[in-house]
Amino acid sequence: MQVREWDPAAAPAEEITAALRTLNLVLAADVPEDPPWRIDSFREYLAVTMPGERRVCWLASDASGLVGYTSVLFVGDIAVLELFVRPDARRGGAGSTLLAAAAKRVAAEGFDSIGVEVIGGTPAADFFEAHGFRCAFIEMRNILDLSTVDWFRLGELAQGVGSGYRIEYHPGGPPETLLEEYAKAKASVRINPAYDLELRPSSYDSDRLRASVATLHARGLKPYIVLAVHEQSGNVAGLTEVVVPAQRPTRADQYDTIVVQTHRGYGLGRALKARMLFELRAAEPQLLDVQTWNAVGFESMRRVNAELGFQPDRQWREYEVDVEDLLRTIS
Ligand SMILES: CC(C)(COP(=O)(O)OP(=O)(O)OC[C@H]1O[C@@H](n2cnc3c(N)ncnc32)[C@H](O)[C@@H]1OP(=O)(O)O)[C@@H](O)C(=O)NCCC(=O)NCCS
Repeated sequence: MQVREWDPAAAPAEEITAALRTLNLVLAADVPEDPPWRIDSFREYLAVTMPGERRVCWLASDASGLVGYTSVLFVGDIAVLELFVRPDARRGGAGSTLLAAAAKRVAAEGFDSIGVEVIGGTPAADFFEAHGFRCAFIEMRNILDLSTVDWFRLGELAQGVGSGYRIEYHPGGPPETLLEEYAKAKASVRINPAYDLELRPSSYDSDRLRASVATLHARGLKPYIVLAVHEQSGNVAGLTEVVVPAQRPTRADQYDTIVVQTHRGYGLGRALKARMLFELRAAEPQLLDVQTWNAVGFESMRRVNAELGFQPDRQWREYEVDVEDLLRTIS
């Protein structure tokens, strides 16, 4: 088996197609309930990063073709790993070989640790535990099947906002005039900062936020924002963010939903999420479901999700390892 560094930005189209095929075989084996990915903007999804971040990728192949893919995203002070091995080629050491290549680079770049997000109930948990990774943070994925939504009831929830707040819908991202306030609202609420590895880091200042929205668009991820403005102060009191990926346009990802501490108890969380669903139904009629994640133990958001009809589905487990420890055992 041969492992080589790979640049998706410059790769021939056949290699992008082979990577997509491998990803879809992995999904079909490990998370068969998830929709397969399409080729639309798949190259950009792999190649584009936020300014200041870098992704390095490797492919493993043998006579049968592409066996596996791994990448490391250098973000802040952590290296975030992705790793896939074609289901019929597993348990032959390909995963470990790719992990070793990534770990060597991570160490060479001076990073101390590797983080990875693993879907509960798949072999990846056993694999990373076998390599000494420890589980640092667990979230629960929740899925809302849009065919089960009671739109009349949802309309009531969308209206149920305390007076003094205005709900705004912004397809494409937060408006320039509210960027500063928006970033402030995000900075005020950081869920479990001690535990969350921030493998999907949020943007806490307006420059980073602007860059993050541009990066989403460039990767084929269309953002939608609903926010609550506190009319008296002009502050952003709450927000919810959804992305519809070109790569799997029937399933939307609901990222952060935030209600700033002083504005809690006025029905904003529920109303924001309910309004978002109405807007999505109109803007993205092909959508079948929406997935979102909430930290285990974050009771208020779990209740909001349950009320809207989201069903808990699988754990999303963040693992981490000290890269020197890993290299001692793997190479
Ligand atoms: C995780 C994954 C990459 C492992 O690839 P692999 O080529 O099978 O890994 P290896 O053959 O190098 O396995 C190394 C060790 O991990 C452990 N391991 C791997 N798969 C395992 C499983 N299904 N059950 C128990 N242990 C397992 C074993 O200790 C194994 O050593 P052994 O075969 O000598 O017992 C592969 O299962 C995969 O692609 N999973 C889906 C993708 C994914 O979720 N990636 C993580 C998030 S990005």
